[in-house]
Amino acid sequence: MSKYNFDTIIDRTNTNSSKWDGFEERFPGLNTNGALPMWVADMDFKAPEEVVEAIVKKAEFGIYGYPKSQGIDFCNAVSKWIERRHNWKIDNNWIVSTPGIVSAVTYAVQAFTNEGEGVIIQTPVYYPFKNRCINYNNRKVIENPLIFNGASYNIDFDDLEEKASDHKNKLLILSNPHNPVGRVWSEDELKRLIDICIKHNVIIFSDEIHSDLILKGNKHIPAGKVSDEVLDYLVAGYSASKTFNLAGLKASAIVVPNEKLRKLFKNIIAKNEAGGLNIFAETGFVAAYNYGEVYLEELLEYITGNVDYVREYINKNLKGVKLIEPEGTYLIWIDFRDTGLELDEINRVVVEEAKVAGDLGDWFGIEGKGFIRLNIACPRKIVEEAMNRLKKVFGR
Ligand SMILES: Cc1ncc(COP(=O)(O)O)c(C=O)c1O
Repeated sequence: MSKYNFDTIIDRTNTNSSKWDGFEERFPGLNTNGALPMWVADMDFKAPEEVVEAIVKKAEFGIYGYPKSQGIDFCNAVSKWIERRHNWKIDNNWIVSTPGIVSAVTYAVQAFTNEGEGVIIQTPVYYPFKNRCINYNNRKVIENPLIFNGASYNIDFDDLEEKASDHKNKLLILSNPHNPVGRVWSEDELKRLIDICIKHNVIIFSDEIHSDLILKGNKHIPAGKVSDEVLDYLVAGYSASKTFNLAGLKASAIVVPNEKLRKLFKNIIAKNEAGGLNIFAETGFVAAYNYGEVYLEELLEYITGNVDYVREYINKNLKGVKLIEPEGTYLIWIDFRDTGLELDEINRVVVEEAKVAGDLGDWFGIEGKGFIRLNIACPRKIVEEAMNRLKKVFGR
């Protein structure tokens, strides 16, 4: 018997939810009235009950004074989780907490590059890397676009070597697993990428926020496990936020094995007075990592069921619409370019006519134009509703 019922529909409207409340401002120029929100990456499921209980207990204590931040419980929970789930043994001293992965990438950009220098990203990719972490800090966006073979995406290693060999490009942001294309990078791919970065002295921020969300038949390899040498070039970002739906708690655990890099990274955090987690974040993360394994196993089964449902539905009912088979994450990348619509029309038709508000493909880079990313971490009934809406417009 399952412990969790992910079929339960919870009304999130009027709860100050970014995903559900007043999201029209995130879709400028499009009418989102009545559209089903399938965009930003949080889940429409409750967190594990142990997390809720721990936070309630903390809340009921009633004194919310300064915590002893990043205590031993937090570090142990993180390091044990990474070892248990991903077979990578890390030292507690390597962990630096930040209020999220985007802030950690920002600190890495500030710590390891100077204004005007280049930061490599692999487009189409999670857009805050470019829009926020790099652009806000006056660094140069260097794109190493993935190669799409019509079914899945691969790294363009020749292009990466060329970009990495320019000594002005100091940092690579790796999305592992990759959002939005759903690749779980193999050990061989990671090794090739890491070898290139080490050869050209490029530091790697390996964003592993989705690393617990791996679909059957695939295995997440932490970048830090690939070789001993990579430990001197690596900043690896972990978080319980996607795995257990805790994004609003605002926390992440950044693993920086090299002492010199860690010092630079921590200096930036200190300079910005941005260290320390709030008490509810720390409480929630510790409970999730210590007691959340049953939840995660059941969640993965449910997400797999949603992916299976979408695959079958699209193949049977939709014309010119193609699911890019995901290996990980609960975000699915769908190609609408063969629907007969003009490329420029696809976003409008999906949002305004089908009334499905997924992340628009071109937000992730020009390569994403004509694609839509749907978040399927929601009850099956909502996924069915989204598919039925798409059928009304793209049905066979
Ligand atoms: C690849 C990736 N990195 C980072 C984040 C956001 O992380 P945080 O909320 O911890 O800043 C997301 C959220 O969707 C993501 O997909």
